[in-house]
Amino acid sequence: MRIVFIGPPGAGKGTQAERLIEKYKLAHLSTGDMLRAARDAGTEIGKKAEAFMSRGELVPDDVIMAIIAERLAEPDCRGGYLLDGFPRTIAQAEALDAMLAKKTTPLDAVVELRVAEEELFNRLAGRGRADDNPDVIRQRLVAYRRQTEPLLDYYAEKGLLEVVDGLGTVEEVFDRVTVVLDPLAE
Ligand code: AP5
Ligand code: MG
Repeated sequence: MRIVFIGPPGAGKGTQAERLIEKYKLAHLSTGDMLRAARDAGTEIGKKAEAFMSRGELVPDDVIMAIIAERLAEPDCRGGYLLDGFPRTIAQAEALDAMLAKKTTPLDAVVELRVAEEELFNRLAGRGRADDNPDVIRQRLVAYRRQTEPLLDYYAEKGLLEVVDGLGTVEEVFDRVTVVLDPLAE
């Protein structure tokens, strides 16, 4: 099963991904986690990415595509994967489609986790990641609305989009996602 998770900052993509990869035996591919690991390791990509992440802006598409292409080629991705926080721009989505078409491994579903903005601020205020201060959260939301929300129409037109209400307890949201994904699991 190959799944994409789309949702604003704090929607619960990472939280749900952790549980879903256990249930469906998938690789968890979070570009945010990969970029933070690169930053902490002090690599060139990490240094370049940090400037964008600390401002709440998206990292350039070419940097992201290089990271993802390398990661998708690893053996654990053959059994399926959950893409968390990627793609985030139409250019990334098109590049992913081209890459997957070549491998003849199309996506099975795109899940939008929908959560109201007030709730996002509450959730992120309680976490404390470097980019979780209110000014940066606001900028991350702007980037989401401008650059990532257009993907919802893009995937709806392909018949792949599933909208899931992300409000409620972690367990409640998990149950809603599994109702959508269970029929797709082999
Ligand atoms: P990324 O790491 O992807 O961050 P994000 O999209 O802003 O989202 P978060 O990770 O903050 O939220 P989440 O939806 O995973 O929620 P979580 O489960 O943690 O990206 C960071 C940056 O990297 C970007 O700004 C950009 O610069 C760069 N980047 C990454 N990918 C990129 C790409 N493809 N292209 C370009 N740039 C890219 O939950 C949040 C909090 O809420 C937690 O404390 C959690 O415990 C809590 N919570 C979760 N679920 C619930 C619930 N149901 N009820 C109550 N609390 C809950
Ligand atoms: Mg996350």
